[in-house]
Amino acid sequence: MPTQPDIMHADSARNDLAEAVRLLQAGELVAFPTETVYGLGADAANPEAVAKIFAAKGRPADHPLIVHLAGAGYLESWARDIPPVAWELAEAFWPGPLTLILKRAPGVPHAVTGGQETVGVRVPSHPLALDLLRAYAQAGGGQNGMCGIAAPSANRFGRISPTDAAHVREELGAAVALVLDGGPCDVGIESTIVDLSRDDQTPRILRPGRITPEQIEAVIGVRPEIANAKKASVPRVSGSLDAHYAPRTPLRLVSWDDLITQAHEVHAAGQRCGVLVRRQLLFPAPHSFRRLPDEPDGFARHLYAALRELDQCGNDVILVEAIPGDAVWAAVADRLRRAACGSGAA
Ligand code: TXA
Ligand code: MG
Repeated sequence: MPTQPDIMHADSARNDLAEAVRLLQAGELVAFPTETVYGLGADAANPEAVAKIFAAKGRPADHPLIVHLAGAGYLESWARDIPPVAWELAEAFWPGPLTLILKRAPGVPHAVTGGQETVGVRVPSHPLALDLLRAYAQAGGGQNGMCGIAAPSANRFGRISPTDAAHVREELGAAVALVLDGGPCDVGIESTIVDLSRDDQTPRILRPGRITPEQIEAVIGVRPEIANAKKASVPRVSGSLDAHYAPRTPLRLVSWDDLITQAHEVHAAGQRCGVLVRRQLLFPAPHSFRRLPDEPDGFARHLYAALRELDQCGNDVILVEAIPGDAVWAAVADRLRRAACGSGAA
């Protein structure tokens, strides 16, 4: 296994898919871009390869992984008793940022499902991810001819997901054999997760994302429930832990009206403060300052990179302008709430 990750640029990355496929088939880890965040991939049919993911991330072994597929045509190798709504959602949103939780097929390793009877699957839309998945399938896939790449976000457990190849290297260093560089991720936050495995057939959103409950309802005619993360012990979703997606610097969500006062208080205490806002700031610049678009998709696209930067410039606290309560901001609000909690400042 190489000791240094090899970051390639988009053009050469396409030419080097064969190397990525070879590494995956040899049971090694390959990080790759998706439209949401970068994933840390391994042959989902190879328990030893999957174990390397948990070791590299420092993730508890009972947290299940998402299996990435080249197309919905591969679904039946990984899931059984697939309900009609799953096919409808796959048709409407794949390739794209939607993960379906289904009953697992018999051959799916426990290492992938965290020992549960369900499996998470999605078809990502990033062109390089699709090229990789298709090349992998064409080369015969992984163990037992199964064609799925298990990939959590390519960050250390509980930390901010990477939305750029350089972030992956910062997070995981030499633990990953190869990093495919597909540039910055377009969506910027993790996929929406919908659980379709329940016996009562009620779809339930386990993690909000770019694809909204309204969009899902428009396709299947049923409004999905929104899981209460605190009550949802099974199936487990590590993204539902309160402390998640967290910078190391304490992060506080602060209303626009309180922002100036709090920033001044931090300064008065002789500390450095980073500020993340959506609007023009009309008070003297704090030590570091990032302004993100005042609409949810643009905000989400740049959020993790901005948090990473504010985390790395020696701030004692990060103040984030509180997010509107409307439904369109729900996924962003969810990530920021967990970032505040995980940073130990909420
Ligand atoms: O956008 C994404 O989904 C990214 C990219 C790389 O595809 N992946 C990602 O993976 O966010 P990860 O492992 O960081 O988060 C996946 C979430 C976890 O919270 C995990 O617990 C949940 O999906 N999950 C996976 N399989 C599950 C299952 N069978 N039941 C319930 N939750 C599951
Ligand atoms: Mg993650």
